[in-house]
Amino acid sequence: MDSVWRMLRINILVYLVVLSFLTSSSLVRATVSFDGRSFMINGQRKILISGSIHYPRSTPEMWPDLIKKAKAGGLDVIQTYVFWNVHEPQQGKYNFEGNADIVKFLKLAQAAGLYVHLRIGPFICAEWNFGGFPVWLKYVPGIEFRTDNGPFKSAMQGFVSKIVSLMKAERMFEPQGGPIIMSQIENEYDGVEYDIGAPGKAYLAWTAQMAVGQQTGVPWVMCKQWDAPDPMIDTCNGFYCEGYKPNKPWKPKMFTEVWTGWYTQWGGANPHRPAEDLAFAVARFIHNNGSFFNYYMYHGGTNFGRGGSGLFVTTSYDYDAPLDEYGQFNEPKYSHLTNLHKAIKQAEPALVSSYPTVQWFGKNQEAHVFTSKTGACAAFLSNYDPTYSAKITFRNVQYDLPPWSISILPDCKTVVYNTATLNNVPTTWPKFTPLGGPLSWQSHIEGMPSADDRDTFSKNGLWEQIGLTWDNSDYLWYLTDVNVAADEGFLKSGYWPKLTVQSAGHVMHVFVNGGLWGTAYGTLESPNFKFPTFSKNVKLNAGVNKIAILSVAVGLANVGTHFERYNTGVLGPVTLDGFNAGTRDLTKQNWNYKVGVYGESLGLNTLSGSSSVEWIQGNSVAFKQPLTWYKTTFPTPAGNDPVALDMVSMGKGQIWVNGRSIGRYFPAYTAQGNCEKCNYAGQYSATKCQLYCGEPSQRWYHVPRSWLNPGGQNYLVVFEEMGGDPYWIRVATRSRA
Ligand SMILES: *[C@@H]1O[C@H](CO)[C@@H](O)[C@H](O)[C@H]1NC(C)=O
Repeated sequence: MDSVWRMLRINILVYLVVLSFLTSSSLVRATVSFDGRSFMINGQRKILISGSIHYPRSTPEMWPDLIKKAKAGGLDVIQTYVFWNVHEPQQGKYNFEGNADIVKFLKLAQAAGLYVHLRIGPFICAEWNFGGFPVWLKYVPGIEFRTDNGPFKSAMQGFVSKIVSLMKAERMFEPQGGPIIMSQIENEYDGVEYDIGAPGKAYLAWTAQMAVGQQTGVPWVMCKQWDAPDPMIDTCNGFYCEGYKPNKPWKPKMFTEVWTGWYTQWGGANPHRPAEDLAFAVARFIHNNGSFFNYYMYHGGTNFGRGGSGLFVTTSYDYDAPLDEYGQFNEPKYSHLTNLHKAIKQAEPALVSSYPTVQWFGKNQEAHVFTSKTGACAAFLSNYDPTYSAKITFRNVQYDLPPWSISILPDCKTVVYNTATLNNVPTTWPKFTPLGGPLSWQSHIEGMPSADDRDTFSKNGLWEQIGLTWDNSDYLWYLTDVNVAADEGFLKSGYWPKLTVQSAGHVMHVFVNGGLWGTAYGTLESPNFKFPTFSKNVKLNAGVNKIAILSVAVGLANVGTHFERYNTGVLGPVTLDGFNAGTRDLTKQNWNYKVGVYGESLGLNTLSGSSSVEWIQGNSVAFKQPLTWYKTTFPTPAGNDPVALDMVSMGKGQIWVNGRSIGRYFPAYTAQGNCEKCNYAGQYSATKCQLYCGEPSQRWYHVPRSWLNPGGQNYLVVFEEMGGDPYWIRVATRSRA
């Protein structure tokens, strides 16, 4: 009964997919269909091997090589999110140029013989600024994100339709002859749905209907959405997903994000996931009925510009992925996975022909055996014990299984691969080679704004930062005056008042009478690095004293229920404790504001803009001076190796090369917290293990080769907020030793 019903449902579904496509175009070449066992492309069953590469996190010049390496690594599919705030930074003004040229990226994948899984979202999380939403969306009247809200649904549908019609016009969907075999609507919504209840359920139903209405001709998935409405396929994201069961038996079992590592945060150490454990997670998923898996990330890349999110995500988004930030092989991971993919493909004819029969050899040892009518046989022999190796006898042959490992036998006899055994894998790593000595710097000190400047404005009390900056700059100045009477006791005693400033995030530099008095930022222990607190005694003079706080956003939140309501900036209270009359509260008094720093509006990051101010050179170049612009030139390194900057001696700021933003840097925030070395591969906590405590979270910054002038000089600008020593900045290349 059940299986008859299931077949019927499958046929109805396939029919619907084809039918919906027929109504929108006359040219049908092929179909993508599925059942509980696997996807079928042109009627052919597949185990699909996929990897995430996000086009804005590299450059169009890097794409062909990344895609070539992905293909050579055994991938069938490239998965990418669609980045709304990259494509529509201002409402109605679209950008599909440069590394926003998504069609070019997808066509390169197609030319290499790869399929595409397009995750339209448009909420993408992705540790990307504002989870991929444009900032203007937050200021659409009456909007509430990701719920049953008219303005939000209308904006979301507008963008989804824009992308789908672009893809249709470029004939990118598989039935049109294009590479896209599946899409995704929304993203990891089930937590938010749980938080907000009924409106969340209504919104979820609407997203599914809206997606189906797009008539793409290919299936839709919803990841981390256990109650995904039909025909959406619910899928799993995680370190391990072997136990996942889709919510209907006719949906294939998909692992949309196999985490290959983890992202790095300012103040956090570099996470690492061993290749052996990653291969184990994949093999275990496949022998437990899995039919599609995707590495998140296969190439993580770089958060250029101000793309990193308010989780204090570093500019590097390396992710410990098989291809490192620079697009080079991360070994032994890349090769160990390539070998795994070969073994899976050898076993594929048997894998897609049946569900496995399972044989037990002990508490932690199993064989999963797949057979086809034509006589194909493949076996996965597993040992889940994290400590002890096992000997098992399978079909009269004895096999040794290392701890926490799976052996693959594509013919049920010969072990071609074991997840814990590194065979034929290179073990050398690329290294940075600094080129030459110190650069010849010039400096310009950023001016401190004052209340009578043309571009400052005054308001009563403390205002939220993004509401004033619209994220056009990381920076917002908060300026106020404190009058000190001549008879204040502290003027004589020297017991200076304590200034306490409470911020909602993310970093603040506090200046008193023109001097930097201190910097505060969140810690790994406080949730999401929010709420930095500055608290220190400050020396005040009789008369007027100037308090100036430079509040610095480090990206906007990328996740959370109603994250559009999250605050940034100095919201108070701001108090001075130690006056004759006790505590003085500055929170509600008059404050002056300035959006951004002068150097930004003067365009000091560009060659033409830089002539608008005076620069100091030679021995008088500013050193360990807060709020300083530095500029220099450097020759393009010979050869083709990737290029990077060593920023180890600097504090916090931003970098530009030839006017283009390399990203934020923050070596002053060294890795803290749990920094134990990882020595055990099998557990979630070990997977996220931390390395290199006490060192900068990110020391090296990727300068894409294509942004350099071939054979010429390049204009390098650094804006330092805290005070650093540019003498030690080096240009370096990265190559395999
Ligand atoms: C695999 O699918 C078969 C057939 O539907 C089912 O009996 C079995 O429980 C599934 N195994 C897992 C681990 O989900």
